[in-house]
Amino acid sequence: MTHPLIDAAIAVRLKAFAPYSRFQVGAALEADDGTIIVGCNVESASYGLTLCAERVAICKGVSEGIRQFRRVAIVTDTPQPTAPCGACRQLLWEFAPEAEVLLANLTGTVVRFTMRELLPYAFDAKQLNS
Ligand code: THU
Repeated sequence: MTHPLIDAAIAVRLKAFAPYSRFQVGAALEADDGTIIVGCNVESASYGLTLCAERVAICKGVSEGIRQFRRVAIVTDTPQPTAPCGACRQLLWEFAPEAEVLLANLTGTVVRFTMRELLPYAFDAKQLNS
């Protein structure tokens, strides 16, 4: 069964700029009003400057004025779906703490997590203000 958010992540994955790793990632974020914001990974010849798909999508959303997301889809072409890296989990936590996260591959495997499951005992603004 296809899901529109996964379909959006599948489509944007094809735009990934990943000439060094050849590992293409697509991410799609659903805002509370249903708006979908997508992102792909963007690599740099200075490898460490590489931007992950999830963080590209979050930054696109925030710069469009969207600061909260209720659902996230991440797609890779791997035998099993790929989990977001630690840095992306942190930023996703800050902008999508209640989100359902759909991890999918191109053969239709989908696994679901909550952000809370992916990043337990998280650091966020609450610590700064306590
Ligand atoms: N990548 C992502 O886009 N998201 C992740 O959560 C993990 C890794 C990208 C970064 C790099 O372009 C490639 O995957 C290999 O690490």
